[in-house]
Amino acid sequence: MSFGTRLKELRRQRNLSLRELGGKLQVDHAYLSRLETGSVFPSEKVIRQIARTFKLSVEELSLAAGKLPNDVATIFYEHPKEAAFLLRERFAVYNTTVQLKGKKENGHRQELEPIFQTRRGQLYQCDCLEFLPTVPDGSADLVFADPPFNLRKNYGQLVDDDLQEEKYLQWSYQWLEELCRILKPGGSLFVYNLPKWNIHFAALLARSLTFRHWIAINIKTTLPIPGRLYPSHYSLLYFTKGKPRVFNRPRVPIPSCRHCGGDIKDYGGHRKWLNPAGLNLTDVWDDIPPVRHQKYKSRAANELSVKLLQRVLEIASEKEDLVFDPFGGGGTTYYAAELMERRWLGCEIEDCKPIIERLSGNLFTNGKLTTATC
Ligand SMILES: C[S@@+](CC[C@H](N)C(=O)[O-])C[C@H]1O[C@@H](n2cnc3c(N)ncnc32)[C@H](O)[C@@H]1O
Repeated sequence: MSFGTRLKELRRQRNLSLRELGGKLQVDHAYLSRLETGSVFPSEKVIRQIARTFKLSVEELSLAAGKLPNDVATIFYEHPKEAAFLLRERFAVYNTTVQLKGKKENGHRQELEPIFQTRRGQLYQCDCLEFLPTVPDGSADLVFADPPFNLRKNYGQLVDDDLQEEKYLQWSYQWLEELCRILKPGGSLFVYNLPKWNIHFAALLARSLTFRHWIAINIKTTLPIPGRLYPSHYSLLYFTKGKPRVFNRPRVPIPSCRHCGGDIKDYGGHRKWLNPAGLNLTDVWDDIPPVRHQKYKSRAANELSVKLLQRVLEIASEKEDLVFDPFGGGGTTYYAAELMERRWLGCEIEDCKPIIERLSGNLFTNGKLTTATC
């Protein structure tokens, strides 16, 4: 609200005429009228008098009059982008709606049409590098990306999962940059990949985001590599855009022996003091099951456990937040988002039928989850 409008509002709240207020402030009523219409700027002395009369802070009125404290103005002049960014981040000011921008073709905007949508989400069948530029800046509360790992897997004809290392990194840097752009201040970004690739990704992400964790997801199913240590974890990078807006630390059950049922650790004799709700989650997750059996797979190649996505969403999002995943696969992220009442948005370059079938299935009966999660 401008200074003039604020002044008029204050005067009217007290039922004062221009003359009466002029008398209190010891200024001419015609000058007051010009202040209210914005045709003159108030001096610092007048701002102080008005603040005293209406018991307001000088800072608030000065800001309404467009005057920043000198030191703050200097920060803004010298660092216009960073200063605005830091403020938005500190006070978690972000856009709340997503309206796809529509890609440009031959100079004309062309709307992309979703191939499938629910009340909470939209799926697009296209290359993420085509889709991402249509997503506005700062629109996603949580981004999760599980790209092909360049392990020569067959995802379909449109995906080459056997690129030269340089090419794979170059391709990845493109979508990573876009993901940083679409993340809201305070939002969280997770990237699931081999440690071999995630060390490069982390270096790139650290330029614009804040590192939180390298989460090791224990895996039991890889093959030994000759001349190397046995690979036993995938990496889940966790970055935020500044201070996280949402951070919940889940508790996990106290691990017990599957043969005798006793505790695996002795907790230095302090077992009875442990929180009955469970242990604090660490950055090594060894309770994530692989989705091995075809019966539970919504798609032939590489589908993650719902438990993994539910945990990620629990840590870094709230109901109605927007979750974005550019590599749909079997739709695990979107499925978890539906279960947890988050909004979602994503794309998949190959066949989207498995996602559509999964999300169109009997997810809920009478408001209760009926499909087994794994
Ligand atoms: C590892 S899978 C993701 C699995 C998914 N997280 C799940 O749990 O179902 C990677 C997916 O990315 C898709 N993909 C590969 N390149 C893509 C691109 N350029 N744009 C969009 N999707 C792509 C592949 O077709 C594959 O389905």
